[in-house]
Amino acid sequence: MRRTFIAGNWKMTQTRSEAVALAQGIVQQLGDTSIEVAVAPPSVYLDAVSQATKGSNVGLSAQNMYHEANGAFTGEISASMLLDLGCKYVILGHSERRHILGETDTDVNRKVHAAIAAGLVPIVCVGETLDEREAGQTQSVVQQQCDGSLAGLTNEQMSGVVIAYEPVWAIGTGKVATPEQAEEVHADLRKLLETRYNSDVAAAVRIQYGGSVKPDNAGDLLGQPNIDGALVGGASLKVDSFLGIIAAAK
Ligand code: PGA
Repeated sequence: MRRTFIAGNWKMTQTRSEAVALAQGIVQQLGDTSIEVAVAPPSVYLDAVSQATKGSNVGLSAQNMYHEANGAFTGEISASMLLDLGCKYVILGHSERRHILGETDTDVNRKVHAAIAAGLVPIVCVGETLDEREAGQTQSVVQQQCDGSLAGLTNEQMSGVVIAYEPVWAIGTGKVATPEQAEEVHADLRKLLETRYNSDVAAAVRIQYGGSVKPDNAGDLLGQPNIDGALVGGASLKVDSFLGIIAAAK
């Protein structure tokens, strides 16, 4: 059984006190849950949010990292630094990093290997743009991103990776994929995992959906057989809406 995993990506929002208050609110109101939950604050607030989530069932995620272990890489953050701050997860290859910061599948792949080597769980994002969807290229784009970003992993390593399918046209737009549209891609991804790895790996890997997930659409999305959780942006910035999505997942 794949454990449902809901993660909040706070992106480059929040002040320090807002981030701490948001984390405290989630911790206080979440209570016991069978759902795996994580929050990904801006890197400069990881330490503060780590203090707020310590000992709770809210895990800590970074939004990005660099693939080198240490050295002269001005402005970058290594996997071991994230571990040191209490991170368990790291989001890699988010579409904003791919499309705004120019990250390639090769960059993402290096980071995935470094994250796993350090003991972090990578949440690897893939997803097509609107033009690609309209050109009928969704499956090939997402496959290519998976093949590139996940190259060279052993079956065991792959089993611990989380994939987030985030159609770019649905991120921050309020335009959510229908449950059927999302399920179609998730099912294709699982078939791809079976082809590239094996059926045990395909059955183990959790595939989150991301893109305008809200409390009122989360239930239908998460009810699909191959959707194992959500990566939530905007709706993760308020305690009520984030907890509403977690409640819908139960
Ligand atoms: P959104 O963002 O929920 O605001 O669409 C999702 C994401 O970018 O992970």
